[in-house]
Amino acid sequence: MKHDFFLLEPSMIAAKWSEFGHEAVRCQEAQIEMLHLDVMDGHFVKNFTMGPDMVLAIRKTVPDMALDVHLMIYSPEEYIETFIEAGANEITFHLEATEEIAHNLDYIRKCNCKAGLAIRPETSETLLLKYLDQVDKVLIMTVNPGFGGQKFMKEMLEKVKFIREKADQEGFKIDIQVDGGINLETCKQALDAGANLFVSGTTFFKEKDYTKIHHEFKKLWSPKK
Ligand code: DX5
Ligand code: ZN
Repeated sequence: MKHDFFLLEPSMIAAKWSEFGHEAVRCQEAQIEMLHLDVMDGHFVKNFTMGPDMVLAIRKTVPDMALDVHLMIYSPEEYIETFIEAGANEITFHLEATEEIAHNLDYIRKCNCKAGLAIRPETSETLLLKYLDQVDKVLIMTVNPGFGGQKFMKEMLEKVKFIREKADQEGFKIDIQVDGGINLETCKQALDAGANLFVSGTTFFKEKDYTKIHHEFKKLWSPKK
């Protein structure tokens, strides 16, 4: 099933933290529709980033943008409501981080928020199959979660292909998101494998002109534009 919805999401971990609010506004001015906000607490991954107060600050700064919160924390069930109240439109948590997968997915959706399930590179994509009817998207990590600026793990494309095939076979219209090392070349590879949501931190924010780099990405799936 050819996907009809493609999106580039700047990963704010790679933005200028001293101007976080302005960076979000600049993204909006570049016609970005959704921001990717990485939440890390130093346990599930060995790094710290932002909490619900920062999500709320971004929400207040760009009230009309969609916020995609990627929880890289253990027991995400303890914080899902807090991040939804802070303004998240989509919440993705890791399959490896909780026993409450089905409950969390159900709760997120009951809160009119899109539910995503993520897997680390070392986690088999087959573990996602039993949840495909409960998710709005799956996130195939293309780097080890925790830090921006890492090299794209090309072998993860097999997972993207596998999930896209299974979802098409079962008739599940789910989004497949890739996150980590996404530049114009790896984005095209992931697109061709069946992904339709692309998270880019370093490649996006190293550019001065966000409209230009956004346009470069969009040309990959709508060459005519
Ligand atoms: C890594 C994060 C990604 C990453 C993307 O744990 O989930 O969002 O920061 O940054 P780049 O594009 O620099 O790999
Ligand atoms: Zn992320």
